[in-house]
Amino acid sequence: MSHYPHLMQSLQLGDITAENRVLMAPLTRTRASGDIANELMAEHYAQRASSGLLIAEATAVMANCAAFLNGPGIYSPEHVDGWKKVTDAVHAKGGKIFLQIWHGGRACHPDLNNGVTPVAASPLAITNDEVHTSDGKKAYTVPNALTSDGIAEIVAGFKQGAVYAKQAGFDGVEVHAANGYLLDNFLRDGSNQRDDRYGGSVENRARLLFEVLDAVVDVWGAGRVGVRTSPLNSFNSMHDSDPIGLTKYLAERFNDYHLAYWHLMRSDFLQQQTGDVISPARALYRGNLIANMGYTADEAEEAIASGKVDAVAFGVPYIANPDLVERLASNTPLNSADPDTFYLGEAKGYTDYPFINQTVDQ
Ligand SMILES: Cc1cc2nc3c(=O)[nH]c(=O)nc-3n(C[C@H](O)[C@H](O)[C@H](O)COP(=O)(O)O)c2cc1C
Repeated sequence: MSHYPHLMQSLQLGDITAENRVLMAPLTRTRASGDIANELMAEHYAQRASSGLLIAEATAVMANCAAFLNGPGIYSPEHVDGWKKVTDAVHAKGGKIFLQIWHGGRACHPDLNNGVTPVAASPLAITNDEVHTSDGKKAYTVPNALTSDGIAEIVAGFKQGAVYAKQAGFDGVEVHAANGYLLDNFLRDGSNQRDDRYGGSVENRARLLFEVLDAVVDVWGAGRVGVRTSPLNSFNSMHDSDPIGLTKYLAERFNDYHLAYWHLMRSDFLQQQTGDVISPARALYRGNLIANMGYTADEAEEAIASGKVDAVAFGVPYIANPDLVERLASNTPLNSADPDTFYLGEAKGYTDYPFINQTVDQ
């Protein structure tokens, strides 16, 4: 008998069945060739194919909206060919994989985007961090506020990205509305100071997210679309005056969509904002709730057993443990992750973490 019977239970996520509830959180690892997914990434994801669902890293749906060097895109046939290597490798191992579709918003420095000034809800720069460029770390720039034509282009960009993700063989997509990137930048009132129909009330701030969801659901069907939010995360200079109110509003609206899941980040990378967003989400949302951030397997097991959430996505544990499912099932100790190799750009720290009973060559 497994030590984690609830984590090991299967779960129907919309149109797909996850074989277990040990999901892999999206993890940017900056290993693409330029912005094309490659064999190394295929190996990395295929190594983790026993996860109930792999959620592949933040992937740009349009040109000039990247926030990381060597982060992947999904806006051309070449991107589709690159990602096809990944989805084929994962499927060959019996895994399931969604793509996290993304626009980096004001985190897109001109140096990473052909000199193009980033766009956001309002002309407010990120001030609590710096961006990595090929010339080293730099301050973020002040973005241009999106015009209404610009907003229509964003919605069209997400739709096209969703079409390409389908062509690339993914099982579904996760709309990235977390961590201060474009959609989250509109959602929260600390970064959205617009006075048009995309700013002000929570309904207005959420309008862009729902336009994007409508467009993406149109491509995929709701049962293959998830959404990720992070109402408390202050990463990328984010803040909201009422994160619980935002969570409740989204819960009610998501109910109408019958999505595969809602992926909710429960806390703050920078530990400045606190609160419980999981309980109100659970109380109001009728679909699958996936929680993330700082869960141990014990806590995840308890959270699922007690009905607080339906599944847990693991981030850093998946960096270091390709066979996280088998390790948990057999109560085998976990490898620990080396943060120095998170964004290294090569195989080291990416595809060389040992499986159970495998010795490490170093
Ligand atoms: C190296 C690294 C890359 C990440 N990349 C992404 C990303 O592409 N998209 C995203 O939504 N979150 C990203 N995150 C956040 C993780 O998905 C996750 O929320 C975070 O690691 C907390 O979960 P954990 O405590 O299980 O690690 C990243 C985190 C790390 C450490």
